[in-house]
This record gives sequence, structure tokens and C-alpha cells, in this order.
Amino acid sequence: MSTTAKITNETVARTAEDLSEAVSYDVGAYISEDYARAERDKLWRKVWQQVGRVEEIPEVGNYLTYDILEDSILVVRTAPDKIRAYYNVCSHRGRRLVDTPKGAKRACGKQNHLFVCGFHGWRYNLDGQCTHIPNKDDWKAVLTDERTRLGEIKADTWGGWIWINMEPHSEPLRDYLEPAASLLDPFELQNMRCRWRKWIIFDCNWKVAMEAFAETYHVPGTHPEFTKFGDFRGWARAQGKHSNIGYDAPKGLDENQAKLRLGSGADPRKSTAEMQVYTWEHVNTNTTKTLVDAALRLVDELPEGTPADKVLKHWLDSARRDDAARGVIWPTVDPAHVGKSGTAWQIFPNFQIGHAVNNALCYGARPFGYDPNKCIFEVAVYQLYPKGEEPKAEWEYAQVDDPRWGSVLPQDFSNMAAVQQGMMNGGFRGPLPNPYRERSVANLHRNLAKYMGTGAPRPPK
Ligand code: FES
Ligand SMILES: [Fe+2]
Repeated sequence: MSTTAKITNETVARTAEDLSEAVSYDVGAYISEDYARAERDKLWRKVWQQVGRVEEIPEVGNYLTYDILEDSILVVRTAPDKIRAYYNVCSHRGRRLVDTPKGAKRACGKQNHLFVCGFHGWRYNLDGQCTHIPNKDDWKAVLTDERTRLGEIKADTWGGWIWINMEPHSEPLRDYLEPAASLLDPFELQNMRCRWRKWIIFDCNWKVAMEAFAETYHVPGTHPEFTKFGDFRGWARAQGKHSNIGYDAPKGLDENQAKLRLGSGADPRKSTAEMQVYTWEHVNTNTTKTLVDAALRLVDELPEGTPADKVLKHWLDSARRDDAARGVIWPTVDPAHVGKSGTAWQIFPNFQIGHAVNNALCYGARPFGYDPNKCIFEVAVYQLYPKGEEPKAEWEYAQVDDPRWGSVLPQDFSNMAAVQQGMMNGGFRGPLPNPYRERSVANLHRNLAKYMGTGAPRPPK
């Protein structure tokens, strides 16, 4: 049975209808320090969180750390086929076991056998067991293995990402991720490798940052230059805990590949090439060099007046062939499935996957301390590579005005702090997300309210 068959039409129909009426909700979720503090126990210590890529810890002993508010998690490959996660704290007197290098986003490295605490030298093996305690006899047999080993939490993998959950009674990762997991599996995200990734600290709540990318309604207002390539009507669907967004396929484009789409206008050969070059140069997301080069050849390879569906097919077929010739095999995904999966998934609560058959664009955000007006934000772009030619893209810190962001993402960034300030304005009566195009935003708050016990969306007054 194909994984997608697990998703019944009923599930999709039921969840897709949710939140089709207008709603509003309280701004406390964005601006209240009490709410931000409550998130630690009610949200972050309960949900599955994406903490890194499987390929970042390829060998036994490779580890990385992930910090969320006060909790630091140590993720270790303990066997060729096993990844475990521990609280990153020494059982003796609570020193953080693995330090984050100054200025770095996290720690990432390799310990062949042991983690040694820098304070009194207690040692732990990769399986979290405390294997050496200086003067252990002084405790008179109180120090059992159970009491001294590192505290372990749940860890699992999906889509090439490592996920952790601090809640011992949480549902399994796969169940938590549905229906996103089954709808995304055919895109084989686990085979992609990172082309670039950057992080930043924004002056806004983590929800403001995630929501800025969770809908397409902002495109004409924030990125007006994209409207010349076509006015695509975007949708958003509530999918249980998660949401997805996409564009209605233009009529007649049976080969619709959602994110890999044609430019509009009289000559789609030219507008597609223009849109691809613009995207490559100004955002460096949502496409690959192979796609750009194949788009640039369209004017030479196809006669003027070629209908749009033929242009799309030719472009994608030739790019697929070019990649295959260098050993990069795109998965084949049925256009109907592509249409249903859309262009991006908002994985509750703080991860977005913008997927395509050969590349992906992902966003994540989490609080930066308990200041509700600040967050850590990260962007990572993935694509398929020939085996052995995958780059090792490290996390780079880049300020809002860093030219390496290109020109499009800073347009989104420019809204962040301004939205946060607007939320605090005593005259603001609460958000009014578009019930069709921004349902993903309303759905985030519907699900947040279930965890937080407050802030459920309601009809706007
Ligand atoms: S706190 Fe770690 S050895 Fe003392
Ligand atoms: Fe945007």
C-alpha cells in the first residue's frame, strides 16, 4: 500500500473545511510575557521539535545540541542506526555537559566514546551511562546507574530531520506529523542536502516570524515585483495540527508541479526564464541551477507560440533529464498528489517545509528567552546533489541588512518588527486572517489554544 493511500479522502475533506469562516484571536499570544513563560511547560516541553538533519551526525559519536529556552538537548548517534537525545546537563551538580562555542548557534562535533563534564570530571558514555565518578565511594552506594545516567528524551527521524520530544507520553512522531508526513513522503526530502542556511535574531515573536511565511496573501503587497510573473491564487488548508498552502493550478496545466511553475503572460518561455533567473539571483530559494539553465534554453528549444502546458512539460522534462545525467534522480510525484500537497507545510508549531521534487525551503523560529518581542529565526535551502558532491553548508549568522539574504527575504523581514509593534498598539482589535488564503495562521492559533488553554480563535467582533 502506498503511504499516501493511508490518508483517506474523508480526513482531508473534514480538516480542509475547518476554519473556513472568519475568526480573530487575542494578541496575548504574541505580546504577553506571561504567555511566553507559559509556553515553556505547556508547549515546548510537549511537542515534537525539529532539531537538525540526520546527515549532520553521520558517524557513531557525532552529536549536536539544541536549545529551547532553558532546556538544552544533546542529540547523539549512539550506533550506526540509532540516534538518542539527552538533557544536556551533568547529573552531578548540574553543569551543562556540552558547551555551545561562543557566538555559535549550537554545538556540533564528535566524541569517540565519552562526554566528560568540565566541572568535576564525571564521564558519560554515548548511551548516557555515567561511567566514571571520582571518589564514588564517598556517596556510600547511593549513586545508582539510574540516578546518575543522563536524562533521556524521545528522539526520532522523519524526512531527513531529527526530531525530539520532552514529553514521555507524547504520541509517536509519525502520528504527530500526519497527514503531513504521508503527503510529503513522495518528495523524498531525506535525500536532499542543504545548499545554504542562515539564522538571525528578529525583534518579533516567533509566531509573527512563522506566520510571515505561512501564507501567499502577502505576496502582491510585500513582493510586488513577483506579480509581473503572474497572479497566482493561493489557498491554505487546516490539516489537523498542521496546515498547508498552495496555488490553484492554472487551467489546462496537467503537469502541474506546484512550486515549479511557469511565468504567465504572452510568452511563457520568456516569463518562466525571467522568473527563474530572478528567483535564483534575488532569493536563491525554490529552484536549482539545473531548473534555471533549462528555463533559459526554452526560447531556443521551443517555437514561439508553444502553449503553456507544453512549455511546462518541456522545461521540467529537460531539467529532470539534465539532472539524471549527473546522477540526480528526481522522485516522480503524481500531479494530483502534488496539487493536494501544495507548496509548503506548516508543521506545528514552529517549522515550515516548502517542498518540491528537487528542492526545499524551510523556516523555523523559536523564542529568544522570555521576551515575547524576540525570536531566533532560521532559513535552510535544500536540493538534490550527485552523490559525493553535497556541500557542507554550515549555519551562518546574518543580520537583516546582510547582502547575503538577497533582496526578497528582507522584504518579508521588514514586516516583522512592524507587525510586533502594531500588535502592541492599544487600538489594534485583533488579527483578521483571510479565511481562504491565511487559514494556516488561524489554524496555528486554534492548535496553540489546545496546548495553552487560552487564545482560541472566535468570530471577530
Ligand atoms: S557538575 Fe558535572 S562533574 Fe560536577
Ligand atoms: Fe514573502
